Amino acid sequence: CPDPRLKELMTGLVRHVHAFIRETRLTEEEWGEAIAFLTAAGHITDDQRQEFILLSDVLGASMQTIAVNNEAYGEATEATVFGPFFVEGSPEIELGGDMAFGATGEPCWVEGTVRDHEGRPLAGALLEVWEADEDGRYDVQYDDGRTAARAHLRTDDDGGYRFWGITPTPYPIPDDGPVGRMLDAVGRSPMRASHLHFLVSHPGCRTLVTHIFVEGDPLLDADSVFGVKDSLVKRFERQPAGTPTPDGRTIEGTWSRTRFDVVLAPG
Ligand code: DHB
Ligand code: FE
Repeated sequence: CPDPRLKELMTGLVRHVHAFIRETRLTEEEWGEAIAFLTAAGHITDDQRQEFILLSDVLGASMQTIAVNNEAYGEATEATVFGPFFVEGSPEIELGGDMAFGATGEPCWVEGTVRDHEGRPLAGALLEVWEADEDGRYDVQYDDGRTAARAHLRTDDDGGYRFWGITPTPYPIPDDGPVGRMLDAVGRSPMRASHLHFLVSHPGCRTLVTHIFVEGDPLLDADSVFGVKDSLVKRFERQPAGTPTPDGRTIEGTWSRTRFDVVLAPG
């Protein structure tokens, strides 16, 4: 084999697949069902998705790959799954701006800092943020072409950032295809714990793909793609209606606030 890495991957794969077949005494009928399932998972659905990434996610294979490629580095913020809903070219917002762009949900003030592993503030770090609306849907899941609940912004000279988003709500991963039927067959829920996605980058640093989760969410222990890490669970403090906001606004209903301080590993 001219490529030693390919040889390593293929021999490892064959070794583990054979061990699985021996261990479970896989029947020929089950083998046939597995082939049919994989064939179905590879077909493009009406909304232009094939389900291999989804399959990798629900088997925990995506998180395992992230784990071996994002070794813990001191205090560096942990990574988690990217998910399928990031879109290039999100609108830019100013510090303190609103990333909701009309997406419905309880307003949420998010603030924090971006620092390097030695605690130095990173000015001009790029934050991409995206989330589902209060109905648990991303903008791209509507067919009206809207852009909402996604934006990018840059940290100030002190590495600080702040913006308005919406309080995260739980939602199911797409469950109307082969992967959804498999989850159903084994009695697993398609729900993801509530979260807000971040992609944080700065020259000289390892780019961070992560999200923050909501303390107290009952789905924290049952996230369908195994994305939750304790260090990423944050307190979202609900503020009574009428509480003045950090930027001096008055909001009619309740709002929430959270803090997420990011530490980037060297890149
Ligand atoms: C997310 C959604 C998915 O369907 C998935 O497989 C993984 C992550 C998400 O939105 O975070
Ligand atoms: Fe998500």
